[in-house]
Amino acid sequence: MTMLDLVIRGGIVVTASDVSRCDVGVKDGRIVALAEALPSAPHEIDATGRLVMPGGIDSHVHLAQPGGPGIVMADGFETGTRSAAVGGNTTVLSFALQERGASLRESVEAYHLKAKGQSFVDYGFHLIVTDPTPAVLGQELPALVSAGYPSFKVFMTYDDMVLTDRQLLEVFAVAREQGALVMVHAEGYDQIKFMTDRLERQGKTQPYFHSVSRPELVEREATHRAISHAELIGIPIMIVHVSGREAMEQIQWARGRGLKVHAETCPQYLVLTADDLKGLNMDMSGAKYVCSPPPRDRASQEAIWRGLQSGVFQTFSSDHCPFRFDDEAGKTGPKARTSFRWVPNGIPGIAARLPILFSEGVSKGRISLQVFVALSATNHAKMYGLYPRKGSIMIGADADIAIWDPDRKVTLTQELMKHGSDYTPYEGIEVTGWPVKTLVRGVLVNDDGDFVGQIGHGQFLPRETSREALR
Ligand code: URP
Ligand code: ZN
Ligand code: ZN
Repeated sequence: MTMLDLVIRGGIVVTASDVSRCDVGVKDGRIVALAEALPSAPHEIDATGRLVMPGGIDSHVHLAQPGGPGIVMADGFETGTRSAAVGGNTTVLSFALQERGASLRESVEAYHLKAKGQSFVDYGFHLIVTDPTPAVLGQELPALVSAGYPSFKVFMTYDDMVLTDRQLLEVFAVAREQGALVMVHAEGYDQIKFMTDRLERQGKTQPYFHSVSRPELVEREATHRAISHAELIGIPIMIVHVSGREAMEQIQWARGRGLKVHAETCPQYLVLTADDLKGLNMDMSGAKYVCSPPPRDRASQEAIWRGLQSGVFQTFSSDHCPFRFDDEAGKTGPKARTSFRWVPNGIPGIAARLPILFSEGVSKGRISLQVFVALSATNHAKMYGLYPRKGSIMIGADADIAIWDPDRKVTLTQELMKHGSDYTPYEGIEVTGWPVKTLVRGVLVNDDGDFVGQIGHGQFLPRETSREALR
């Protein structure tokens, strides 16, 4: 056997299908050996009593994304990917937003400049299409899909992002021609607008009313409409950030008809509820939890768990979309104080995602270790064209590994998250199970809370069309 660079010794190796006690041998950043007992190497990590799992892939994060006039996102690639590594992640898929009037290709180039040399973990980009002009549909999207960006997100709400039904259909048609996966933000624009105007007229402007303005039926209606559009065009779709039972029912209904509809959910729908948006006596602190779709209620949390257990969801992502709370350019700016309408949507969660899923899922006996790995890494790699290079522990894969102490008890705090926001919506949540080491292509970036990574170690990942997602 060629000399190994690194051996991770004595741990329990977990993949989406198996759990086994073995050593992991790494050479030139890749896994080259799995065996009961490997020879010694210049670098060794003792993983006795630990779980050795694929590093998390977070396939839904927003980094360095323009947030509209006066609003600044709290994380660029440096702090966002640092926080990702602390939370046991080794790859992130961020969004490259096309602002209206801009070229999609130039938008992607701008994101590369923001990310290059700034990332601690590997990264790729999904596209966000907000302005599907003939040039975007006819030239830019096809060229970008071939160049390593085979997934794009479309929005059914938000003033500056919403696509009309006709535009959705045009984008879906390009996805079909090019073999791309469309990710859909399914909430209906007009219903939300109507509700927002009415609530404001009634003086109901505090952050809590964000959740009232977009009840589950708004998500259900848009999910159904997106599925119908996808059926008309004949493409699979991914419904992202599903918050509760009603959208899940639409997804299950579609699958019952033989349609390929994938689904993603996120930690906010497991451990937060709409009551969190009430803050302290309906004050602005509720803005810390404003995201879309909003967290629902305890029954919805249980429904989401059933979906995670039964295969309704393929991926569990953070939807990390960070703003600062105590900041004019964040959650409590002058306009945001006048109405929930203007509170920037989105919450930070890139570091908290996996500890929450592990603790609430594995430690509490709701899901197996293998399902945890599938939901946190393997399925993301398969869905978005990174498999088998990423997402598993197997010969030939990148040595992207998170070593977990399954018994470590940790209280989630802002200080632990190492992100750019000045708060975490998960403050005070106690978890059992913690990623004590994170290795990206065999290089240690997080050593038990000590951040030892080199900025710029993270590489751009051009991706393939995913057969798994589209077949
Ligand atoms: O509230 C959210 N989720 N903001 C981020 C943008 C999005 O819709 O994913
Ligand atoms: Zn969204
Ligand atoms: Zn998002």
